[in-house]
Amino acid sequence: MIIRKILLIVFGISWLISCKNETADPVEVCFERDVLPILSNSCAYNDCHNPDDRAGGIQLTTYNGVLRAVTPNNYRASKLYTSMVTFPVMPPKPYDRLGVEDLSIIAAWIEQGAKNNSCPPANCDTTNVSLSADVRPILSKYCGGCHMTNNPQGNVDFRTYDDLRIYVDDGSLTGSINHISPWSQMPKGSGKIPACSINIIDAWLHNGALNN
Ligand code: HEC
Repeated sequence: MIIRKILLIVFGISWLISCKNETADPVEVCFERDVLPILSNSCAYNDCHNPDDRAGGIQLTTYNGVLRAVTPNNYRASKLYTSMVTFPVMPPKPYDRLGVEDLSIIAAWIEQGAKNNSCPPANCDTTNVSLSADVRPILSKYCGGCHMTNNPQGNVDFRTYDDLRIYVDDGSLTGSINHISPWSQMPKGSGKIPACSINIIDAWLHNGALNN
């Protein structure tokens, strides 16, 4: 029963997040756009599965690294998935477990053959950018696992506007996402976030980084 429920959610979600491009397969889950951000955000903490630490020999910030924990077309046989739903659940405390939506995306991607696919970028609209509607969702998706929790990595906390403002004002927010020295490259251990997301954050900064 539970498996059927999960499958329903899996295919429901994969339909919901499917590529908006009309010519694309409507149920395709894309590794780069949909799966990698979840793993980079929830598994690449310090001492965990990033390129430097490779806890347990596993690193989850590249396709080849992820594939080693996956049996394509069979999410229930894939360590990547089972480790997140069976004891001892990954990621371990104090980090948050993945929500059902993220689990469903991962399961759907595996069921679809665990392909190294990326979807065509959506049109990028950088007009009238606001913190709450545009910037916060990007920060949650790509940075929240490390910087919006009770134990923020590197003590860098984005939860309140005042906290975030520290990294706006010292230049490290834009420096880190654009991979500009001397700032640490973010997200830690992963490639840059999509160009459109960077452009949206930079547009918000350019307009005064308002609490809007
Ligand atoms: C997997 C965990 C992780 C993710 C995801 C992550 N960070 Fe970080 N971040 C860190 C750690 C750890 C540090 C401490 C510095 C270091 O180790 O490089 C840090 C430091 C920073 C700093 C301070 C940089 C400096 O040089 O002083 C900024 C700014 C930052 N992160 C922004 C972001 C942004 C923006 C995102 C999302 C696009 C993000 N981080 C995603 C782990 C992460």
